[in-house]
Amino acid sequence: MEKKRTLVTTALPYANGPVHIGHLAGVYVPADIYVRYLRLKGEDVLMIGGSDEHGVPITIKAKREGVTPQDIVDRYHSIIKDSMEGLGISFDIYSRTTSDIHSQTASEFFRHLYDKGEFIEKSSMQLYDEKAGQFLADRYVTGECPHCHNPHAYGDQCEKCGTSLSPNELINPKSALTDTTPVLRETFHWYLPLDKWQPKLEQWILNDHKEWRPNVYGQCKSWLDMGLQPRAVSRDLDWGVPVPVEGAEGKVLYVWFDAPIGYISNTKELLPDSWEKWWKDPETRIINFIGKDNIVFHCIVFPAMLSAYGDGYQLPDNVPANEFLNLEGDKISTSRNWAVWLHEYLEEFPGKQDVLRYVLTANAPETKDNDFTWADFQARNNSELVAILGNFVNRALVLTHKYFGGKVPAAGSLEQIDREALAEIGELKGKMSALLDEFHFRDALKEAMNMARCGNKYLQETEPWKVAKSDMERTATILNTALQITANLAIAFEPFLPFMSKKLCGILNIGNIDWQMLGGDAILPAGAEIGQPELLFEKIEDAAVSAQLAKLEAAKEANAKAAWKPEPVAEDVDIDLFAKCDIRVGTVLECQKVPKADKLLQFKIDDGSGEPRTIVSGIAKYYEPEQLVGKQVCYIANLPARKLRGVESCGMILSAVNSDGSLTVIGPSAPVAPGSKVG
Ligand code: MF3
Ligand code: ZN
Repeated sequence: MEKKRTLVTTALPYANGPVHIGHLAGVYVPADIYVRYLRLKGEDVLMIGGSDEHGVPITIKAKREGVTPQDIVDRYHSIIKDSMEGLGISFDIYSRTTSDIHSQTASEFFRHLYDKGEFIEKSSMQLYDEKAGQFLADRYVTGECPHCHNPHAYGDQCEKCGTSLSPNELINPKSALTDTTPVLRETFHWYLPLDKWQPKLEQWILNDHKEWRPNVYGQCKSWLDMGLQPRAVSRDLDWGVPVPVEGAEGKVLYVWFDAPIGYISNTKELLPDSWEKWWKDPETRIINFIGKDNIVFHCIVFPAMLSAYGDGYQLPDNVPANEFLNLEGDKISTSRNWAVWLHEYLEEFPGKQDVLRYVLTANAPETKDNDFTWADFQARNNSELVAILGNFVNRALVLTHKYFGGKVPAAGSLEQIDREALAEIGELKGKMSALLDEFHFRDALKEAMNMARCGNKYLQETEPWKVAKSDMERTATILNTALQITANLAIAFEPFLPFMSKKLCGILNIGNIDWQMLGGDAILPAGAEIGQPELLFEKIEDAAVSAQLAKLEAAKEANAKAAWKPEPVAEDVDIDLFAKCDIRVGTVLECQKVPKADKLLQFKIDDGSGEPRTIVSGIAKYYEPEQLVGKQVCYIANLPARKLRGVESCGMILSAVNSDGSLTVIGPSAPVAPGSKVG
């Protein structure tokens, strides 16, 4: 179990959009907690990250915006890199797959497998867009999923039922480029025969890694049970790493072939002379942090690639994949802008990096999909970070300043209650370590919070503010104990809340912390200076939450607008039937709300007859009555009168129905005589 060093990789996010809370909760926050924990333990560890800059979504986006794919990835790579740094994700390197070192490494990797005869070369019929003059790989095609019949499945995957697909399987395929129906045309590609690696992978996963998370193990087992098939590793595209073989013009490596090699390229870029020991020494533990949609690539395809390469490449020791995080009950989506974007959060909640890290960990989708809500964000901040952790630390610091001039008082002989509190911290450390070792970050965080709870309970029971009235020696012992607990919190929370930990260490004047110190009862020496207390967390007000909800609501409305299409035209009607309908223009003389009916407005209309006409209309939600007085409106004049809420209505005012369902009254574009016919 104990290996010399640990290589932590984090799924390379696609540089076709910024990073959102789903990415963070699934991959980067847990990986960062783990790496920080190992570093605190003094272990040799590397955290590798970078942007995945190839693949069809990037070229589609570029085309839509009329810019180059390089423009797109340059834009998002820097947003992603800066925002991750802003959240304190402590990569040793965050690079990118458009780097030279990456194309060389990926190219060499392919060429080595090619030379070893590890590929099958095969011709097949693939979808081709005649209008665009290109083959339609992966997301260039959409159509109906053959499994769940979702009409918007992609050529590589149905996002509704999660099945991976190939473009040819789609029912009614359509080109995402031209919206035309593609034809079949022959092309050739290189395939990695995964079936060849089936026995090795079965042994490695199903026998040797029974300890993997059930969701990961289960998904692998079901792939293996279905029987692995050869997989194409090249594509007919012009964005990607060119296939380094003669006669392969116009072909690039499949993005899922080159991207995981990015982990290797980035390690090389960081450590040109010593990268190999991180990949090829059996004494290195390799841990891949990913989301559940990446399981097959990390547990089956990439291991098969590494095995085919040989030369000592090691397979991962664990792949702690998370499930998905939803947002306010809906699936997070980059294209629908249904997300909380990290770079926006950092701007809108300055100094609150730890709050987001806390909430995403406390609610991490480790075993099942979970939901992020702004109400929960506020509640966890206010009733956990502020009321438990912040409150305890603040009391310990303020009391130290009040009674001991800001110096750690020397402890006298400990009483049972003091010993018990300190012993509990030690126990919680043991629990936390075991949980962190097993990638149970959510539960580990709970135990850290229990340390703060233990501190609060201790102060509640010992009441130093009362003891101080009569017994300063005992007060000194109590506050010494409380301060030792505070120092423990600074260490225990470092992997989770690094900004808070740094601030607290600054106040406590402790320099180099490490995991061995955790559980100690004399971290702070008597007489040491304590800095001025500062609030570690502040309350989040309702207004901040409402603003975020309003932003999401706006995204929803914008989506509805973008997706809106006019209703199909109704069946033909007879011209005579239409002619029977007597539509007129009238001028609004009076308009008022109908009492106790929130939808209805009552009109008095000048219809030219000299006698005002009364019409009741269901548009009260969209107009204030006075807005309409003096306006000319169209109405149907020959409908039989009927009573609405006790008011007799003679006719119907015509309105257009907008994309969001709201109503706009229709009138002439220039004034006409009241009673004029419309036809
Ligand atoms: N870009 C992929 C995604 O976001 C992940 C790539 S992981 C790597 O789903 F291993 F290929 F790098
Ligand atoms: Zn489906």
